[in-house]
Amino acid sequence: MKKVKEGKKIKRGKDIFLIWFSFLSFLTFSSNVYAHSIIYTKHNLAATGPGVIKAVSEREVCIFCHTPHNALSVAPLWNHTLSGAVYQLYSSTTLLSPTSPVIQPDKSSKLCLSCHDGTVALGSVVNVGGSASTISMQQSGAAITTLPPSSSAFLGTNLSGHHPVSIEVNAGLVIDKQAQCNSGTVTYKVCLPLPGQPVRLMPTDNAYGASSPPRLGVQCTSCHDPHSDPNPPRSVFLRVGDATDPDQLCSACHVDCSQACP
Ligand code: HEC
Ligand code: HEC
Ligand code: HEC
Ligand code: HEC
Repeated sequence: MKKVKEGKKIKRGKDIFLIWFSFLSFLTFSSNVYAHSIIYTKHNLAATGPGVIKAVSEREVCIFCHTPHNALSVAPLWNHTLSGAVYQLYSSTTLLSPTSPVIQPDKSSKLCLSCHDGTVALGSVVNVGGSASTISMQQSGAAITTLPPSSSAFLGTNLSGHHPVSIEVNAGLVIDKQAQCNSGTVTYKVCLPLPGQPVRLMPTDNAYGASSPPRLGVQCTSCHDPHSDPNPPRSVFLRVGDATDPDQLCSACHVDCSQACP
């Protein structure tokens, strides 16, 4: 009797060792290879995703945002129902970019806001399995439809306390910000982020001055990469730096008036 028990114990110990071993090698492997994969982020809204907000049973990851067929005629093959909201936008006495109601978020920022303004069901997609449908969603087991206002990721439709988006950044704006520096009304000017930097300008239809297309400017995706959140909860999908240290992110575009643009 005793012998059998001991044998069991040894076997259990071995199993536990094996489980730990595979878990540890999984961690090492995953942090090296998959740390940047969307699968390990809150944007994996499939039923097996790591966040508290996810599907009840849907297993596909990309489907909430993209579909290979019958997508909306919006790049990149967009599958999530867009929001019809009109947003209140940031304004200030020193801001040169046109703001609300002159301009509204467009292009990739509109894609983010289709979930983050909290007006459209998180699971509302135009193509799942061949037809429009709403994927059932849950938050820690309780059924939800839209992004709940209690979520720290909820932006709502009043964006007046958020960094301006869908604003063109061109040579004209850089010159006009320098002029504000020269007259002492601001401390920081705006510079064009260097090519090849993680922080980048993204397409927008909104113009600064009498510019002509194609136009590039600040969008949510200038600062955030929706597919990668390497160090949650601090990294919040940022292209560089994190929520506790965003300076590197800011200085890709904002440079002290006393310094030259890189
Ligand atoms: C939560 C929403 C979301 C999910 C889920 C998502 N994406 Fe995206 N994806 C976006 C957004 C927003 C853009 C546009 C970003 C931009 O303009 O850079 C994008 C852009 C893309 C692009 C074009 C630009 C690029 O970076 O290459 C590809 C390809 C892409 N996604 C593939 C995928 C795949 C594959 C999956 C599933 C594994 C996926 N995405 C899941 C939101 C998502
Ligand atoms: C299909 C819906 C959907 C789309 C589209 C989407 N998100 Fe999200 N996002 C979510 C959900 C759901 C969460 C998790 C919220 C929570 O856990 O409370 C989230 C979380 C986040 C977070 C918070 C991460 C954290 O750890 O606190 C950021 C930042 C974010 N999203 C940015 C973006 C940006 C930028 C875009 C566009 C490029 C985008 N999202 C597009 C649904 C979406
Ligand atoms: C100029 C850069 C910049 C732009 C543009 C930007 N963000 Fe962010 N975002 C940040 C930084 C930095 C943080 C982390 C610090 C914080 O929470 O304020 C953040 C945090 C977030 C969070 C997480 C909040 C939390 O507390 O967990 C969400 C969600 C988010 N952004 C969504 C968006 C969406 C959607 C857009 C476009 C409408 C956008 N962001 C545009 C820089 C930016
Ligand atoms: C991709 C480029 C880019 C990045 C990155 C960026 N900004 Fe901006 N920011 C701009 C532009 C362009 C404006 C609009 C300037 C104008 O119209 O006068 C702006 C406007 C602002 C304003 C309002 C200025 C005013 O006069 O009212 C503040 C404050 C600001 N940014 C802070 C930040 C902070 C903090 C960060 C980092 C978290 C950041 N920005 C990152 C490009 C950027």
